[in-house]
Formats: sequence, C-alpha cells, structure tokens
Amino acid sequence: MAIWPRIGDTGHDGRVAQLAIDIGRELGMGRTELEVLGRAGLLHDVGKLGIPGAILDKPAALSEGEWRVMRTHPELGLAILGATGRFTREMLAVLYHHERVDGAGYPHGLTAAEIPIEARIVAVADTFDALVSDRPYRHAFTYAEAVARVRHESGTHLDPLAVGALARVLKSRRHSVHGHQQQSFSGQPSAA
Ligand SMILES: [Fe+2]
Repeated sequence: MAIWPRIGDTGHDGRVAQLAIDIGRELGMGRTELEVLGRAGLLHDVGKLGIPGAILDKPAALSEGEWRVMRTHPELGLAILGATGRFTREMLAVLYHHERVDGAGYPHGLTAAEIPIEARIVAVADTFDALVSDRPYRHAFTYAEAVARVRHESGTHLDPLAVGALARVLKSRRHSVHGHQQQSFSGQPSAA
C-alpha cells in the first residue's frame, strides 16, 4: 500500500523521512501518522537554515562553542515553522529530535515518553543515517557497525521500541538507507 510518494535518495533528509515512515509502519502507525513522520523527517533540520555556514560546513570537528550554536537548530526550526501560526505534530519532531530517552538531550532534557513519538522515531532514523554517512572528521560506519551502534544506544539515547523496529525494517528489506552501500535506498513502500 503506497502511503507516501516515492521519496528516493534525495540526501540525508529524504532518507530520514523514508526510514522514519518505515519505522512507523513497523510500529503499526496509521496513514496520517506516517505522513506526519515523512514531513517531520524532511523538516527535522530546517532550523539549520539559521546556523552559519562556517559551522555547518566546517571540515573538522566542531568546538564546544560551535556545538552550542549548532544545538540551537531545533528551536530555530520551531521558530521557522511557527511563523505559519499553526501548531502541527511535525513541529514537535523538529523541536525534540535531539532529545534522549535518558534525559541528556536537548533542548529541554525530556525523558522517554515525555518525548513525542514522532521525535523518538526521527531520532533513530537520523542517528542511523548519520552513522552510515561520511563526516568531515570520520568515514561512514559500515552498515553492520551502524546497526550495532544504534542498538548500543537503545534505552540511553534512543527509544528501544523504535530501535527494534529499525532493526526489523533493515533486516526484512535487506537494504541500506545509504545510497552508496548495498542496495540503494529506493523509497519503495512496504508490502504491508
Ligand atoms: Fe538535527
């Protein structure tokens, strides 16, 4: 059942969107919720529009001061979307996608179920895709290494249910969210 247009490998945001949808479907979410997840995945880092390019594009690890600036992007994203004057579930995912279930995340240090489910799912998709992507200061982890690292962060950084769903999605589809590894990320809807 196609519930979302083919997104394809349109970069990190597109891959996060599709993977968030797939995780949500695995968790039994309905069409409306999956559409929210897709939009949330595409928009999760919209606040980076307000981060200086010298930080976004720095070809090295960020300093602590630069990280402080970078960590404002969820709230900047909320401000951008809030300019519409409407409140949506997507905005919750944008604001809270860097929260951690152990409360050590940002911007508000929410814990576990305090974090909206959309944000917990986007966090898992975002973390996994970041791991299998090159960074200025490290090469991409292999697919297997990334899965292991995400599992290791289950219950501390990441929501265990969403991590479990991610593992099942990846195993059943035998594809990677990274276009350069294994099968390309096709955005094909599941058969469910
Ligand atoms: Fe982010």
